[in-house]
Amino acid sequence: MKILFAASEIYPLIKTGGLADVAGSLPVALRKQGHDARMIMPAYNSILDKVAPIHNSTNLGNPFGVGDIILLESCIQDSDTPIYLVQCQSMYEREHGPYLDANGNDFEDNHLRFGILSWVSAMLSQYGTLMGWQPDILHLNDWQTGFAAAYLASWKTDHIPIVTTVHNLRYNGSFNMSKWATMRLSSDLLSLHGMEFYGNFSGLKAGLVFADAVTTVSPTYAAEILTPEYGDGLDGTLRSMKDRLHGILNGVDYDQWSPAKDTYIAKNYGINSIEDKLENKLALLRECGLPEDPSKPIFGIVSRLTEQKGLDLVLDAIPSVLDRGGVLIVLGSGDKALEQAYVDLSAQYPNQVHVRIGYDEAYSHRVQAGSDVFLIPSRFEPCGLTQLYALKYGTLPLVRKTGGLADTVFEEGDSANGFVFNDATAQSLQACLDRCMSVFSDLNHWRRLQHSAMSYDFSWEQTTDKWEALYHSLLR
Ligand code: ADP
Ligand code: GLC
Repeated sequence: MKILFAASEIYPLIKTGGLADVAGSLPVALRKQGHDARMIMPAYNSILDKVAPIHNSTNLGNPFGVGDIILLESCIQDSDTPIYLVQCQSMYEREHGPYLDANGNDFEDNHLRFGILSWVSAMLSQYGTLMGWQPDILHLNDWQTGFAAAYLASWKTDHIPIVTTVHNLRYNGSFNMSKWATMRLSSDLLSLHGMEFYGNFSGLKAGLVFADAVTTVSPTYAAEILTPEYGDGLDGTLRSMKDRLHGILNGVDYDQWSPAKDTYIAKNYGINSIEDKLENKLALLRECGLPEDPSKPIFGIVSRLTEQKGLDLVLDAIPSVLDRGGVLIVLGSGDKALEQAYVDLSAQYPNQVHVRIGYDEAYSHRVQAGSDVFLIPSRFEPCGLTQLYALKYGTLPLVRKTGGLADTVFEEGDSANGFVFNDATAQSLQACLDRCMSVFSDLNHWRRLQHSAMSYDFSWEQTTDKWEALYHSLLR
């Protein structure tokens, strides 16, 4: 099968969160199964330096009045995966991240920036003559590419099947109608059953209503988003299309995320050499300038600092752990008030709390390898990848029971591999931290859990057959 995988971020070219990890690894896994999966993404600043030389290109003109749009074809160097890059200087060649300006605000023309990415994805799907290749399936991801389903719907011709994957319903890409005219979409798409969303127009809703199948990234989140509590205003839409909605758990690329192969960490280790993890713990403490005491548990956090992640709960609950000598190491960025609160906490506990505000891929691996426990107290979590990575590193995840966390981390019985709490409250989290601390004081018990955690296999190989079955069902 030929699959075009459209996304706004793809690791290793650009990454702000888990979408990039998935967009960078699912197509590669599908290629290993013999499919011709290719990617499409904007040519942001300096992306061209990170890919193989361009070997095909075509100029699509200036239909949006923001300058020429050029479609380039290249390859991700490590994996030989073909990638199409959408070049449009005024839209994509900017400083800072893919979505936000220097002040952390959304670029005010994001509707157009991702409208154009979507439009080109639709063009490439519809016109095989453009680049000499036409996919059988168009696979969209989140609101930034959801508009592609609207373009194909508005052209009113037959088109290839569309799959839309929801990685996060909270970001619905909804924009004021004053921006509609620039999108070059026909207004009959704007009905209640179309892409209209509470008086705005929404890229994610377009991706849902105009797709042939919708997936989300874990079975539990697929069920949760049908409820008003987790549905973010789209639960009604999702309930009406329940028979087209599937929950398929994300996979992990263990070539990137395994302590046996990781080139970023101090000492490689595996399930038969868990004791070597200690060297990573000591190296992490040293790197953070904290006392090198192996007897105290390190709680690690690597996360976007947003309401979603529930990290405000940690601020309230963690002092009980710190007062017993525990250590907290945080890497993250996002909400300014949360950033400041964590910085303040580190000032209060200079020998036990280390906080790095920012984004650092290599260091995120060292926090995974060096920590004893990985904290993910999310209010909602579509899948979550860091708990999957933590399991493989023998770093026991402590999570709230929601979304993909509920599907992958267990505290009870033979499948136990971490710690789980139910309510999004500091009390519930604190009780869980207490249970965790008491297990930590029993090395044999701890080792058993680490062994169990490291035995789990969340590789893409476990789920590619589900993707194949879904794509096939749409082609029939
Ligand atoms: P989300 O996509 O909601 O942010 P995931 O758990 O799916 O959550 O994926 C987060 C990804 O981003 C992981 O690969 C994690 O290691 C990475 N990450 C998050 N914050 C940082 C950071 N500050 N520095 C480096 N990597 C980070
Ligand atoms: C989103 C979600 C996260 C998920 C990731 C990849 O950013 O917040 O839970 O793991 O996408 O699908």
